[in-house]
Amino acid sequence: MNDTIAFVQTPENIVNLMVSLISENKKSQKSISILDSGCGKGIFLKSLLHSNFTNIEGIELSKELYEYCQKNFPEVNLYNDDYLEWMSLKEYDLIIGNPPYTHYNSLPKSIRSKVVQIVGNKESDIYYAFILKSIDLLKEGGELIYIVPYSFFFNTYAKVIRDKIVNNGILEIIIDLDETRIFEGENPETLIFKFTKKSVKPHQKIRILRIKDRKTKHGAIYKKAVEALSNKLENDVFTYYERNMFNHENEIWTTYPEKLISDFFLLKDTCWIGVGLVSGYEQAFTITEEEILKLNENEKEFLVKAIKSKHCRGFWTEGFENYLLIDKRINSEKELKNFPNIYDKLFSFKESMAVRYFPASNKWFHWQALRNYVKLKSLLAQPKIFVPSLDRSIQNRFSLTTEPLLPSGDVLTIIPQQKDPFFILGYLNSQFFREYYLSEGGRRGHRISYTQRIMSNVKIPNFNQETEDSISKLSKSIFENKDYSKRKEIDEIISASIN
Ligand SMILES: C[S@@+](CC[C@H](N)C(=O)[O-])C[C@H]1O[C@@H](n2cnc3c(N)ncnc32)[C@H](O)[C@@H]1O
Repeated sequence: MNDTIAFVQTPENIVNLMVSLISENKKSQKSISILDSGCGKGIFLKSLLHSNFTNIEGIELSKELYEYCQKNFPEVNLYNDDYLEWMSLKEYDLIIGNPPYTHYNSLPKSIRSKVVQIVGNKESDIYYAFILKSIDLLKEGGELIYIVPYSFFFNTYAKVIRDKIVNNGILEIIIDLDETRIFEGENPETLIFKFTKKSVKPHQKIRILRIKDRKTKHGAIYKKAVEALSNKLENDVFTYYERNMFNHENEIWTTYPEKLISDFFLLKDTCWIGVGLVSGYEQAFTITEEEILKLNENEKEFLVKAIKSKHCRGFWTEGFENYLLIDKRINSEKELKNFPNIYDKLFSFKESMAVRYFPASNKWFHWQALRNYVKLKSLLAQPKIFVPSLDRSIQNRFSLTTEPLLPSGDVLTIIPQQKDPFFILGYLNSQFFREYYLSEGGRRGHRISYTQRIMSNVKIPNFNQETEDSISKLSKSIFENKDYSKRKEIDEIISASIN
C-alpha cells in the first residue's frame, strides 16, 4: 500500500461508540447525507450500514483501499480522491471518521502544500486540515464526529482549529481517551469529539468524559461511555462533567473541570519565572568529581552546579549535577585550547555537538540556550523553587533550595520576590493547585507540563494573612524535616479557605 498516508484501522468498538454519538433526530432519518473522510478499509462504513443508514459516501486516497471498499461496500458511493483538494458537490448532515495523523514535516511534498493552504502554517498536522475542511463541508446543524490526537487542544499552531470550532458551532461531546492504546502499533493521546455546526449558538454545555484507566479494554470503553453519557454520571471507567463551551479567551482547551478563582493575584506579579539553561549535549558538559580534580584554577571558573528534574523531590531538592558551562567567555577553538582539560573533554564530542540546533553566533562547544543566565546569576542567592517541566509523578514536585544552584534545561524556575517562598511552595504543591493547573490546560498525556506561559498566568487566591502564614509554616516544616505528613494539612487549610 504505497499510496497510503497513515492507514491505521479504528477498532470496531470505538467506531460503534462514535456512531452511537449521532443525534437521535439524525439517527431516525436513515437518508441523511453521510461522509466518511479517509475511509480506509471501511470500518465506519460497515457500522453505518449496520445502523441502516442509506445515503453514505466515503473518500479514500489510496487506490488499493478504495478498491477494497468498492468490493466490500457496493451500497456506498466511493471516491478515490485526495480529500484536501476534493471539490464536493454538496454539504453533509454528518461527517465521521478517523482522519490520518501525520505532522507536516513527515508528509509527502505533494500533500504538504495542500495542508499549508488549508491550515495556514507549517507546524501543523494533516488532521488539522481534515477538521477545517470537514467543518466547511457540513450543512447548518450538521455534525462532525472524529477521533483525533488531543494535541489540537493545546498546540499554539492549532489555534486556527480552536477558532474555527468556536466560530462555527458548538462541541457537544468530548471523550478523552488519554494514552489508552486504541490503535495497533500507535499510541497517541486521542479524543473523540462531536461538533455541531450552528450559526446561532444555543446555551448548551459540553458533556465531557475522561478515561480513568489507560488499560481499559475497547469493549468496556464502548459500554461505559454510552452508559456515562446516558446517565450523565461518572462510572468506574469514565469521569463525567459538563462545562460551558470554550470561547476565544480559552487559549488552551482542557478536559478538566474549570476551577474559578475570583479574588487572586498572578504568580508572575510576585515571582520571577523562567526556563532552565539548556546544554544541548548533557554527556559532554556534565562532569564528575574525579574529572573536576584534574581541572586547573582557570578551568574551574567554568564549573556550575545545577538542579535537574531528577533532583526535585517535592518541597526539597536532593543532589545536583556538576556542569562545565561554556559560554561566550570562550569564542574560538584556539581560545578553548587555553583550557586543555576542558578542550580534551569536549573535543571527543565535537562532531555531534556541532550539529545541535543553535544560533549562528554559537560555536560547537557552547551551551545551546542560555536564556535568563544573567538574571539567574543575579538571583542565585535567593530561595528558588524548581519544578520538572514535564512530570509524571502523582503529587506536585515543586522543590525549594536555598543553595546557589542553577536550573538545568528540564526544570522551570520560580523565584518568589514579594511573597514568602514557603507560602508559594506550599500552595504550588497543594492538591487544589494541581487540579487548578490541569484545568488551565497543563496536561500532556499522563504528564503535567509546567510551562513558563501557563505558570506565569496562574491565579493564586488572595488568602487572608493567617491562612498564608499557616501554609508557610507547614510548608517550612515539611521542607526542614523532609517529612510529607503535613502535606494533607495544607490541602485542608486551602479547601476550607476557598470554600
Ligand atoms: C487513520 S486511517 C483511518 C482509516 C479508517 N477511517 C479507519 O478508521 O479504519 C486514515 C485514512 O485516511 C486515508 N487518507 C490519508 N490522506 C488522505 C487524503 N488526503 N484524502 C483521503 N484519504 C486520505 C489513509 O489512506 C487512511 O486510509
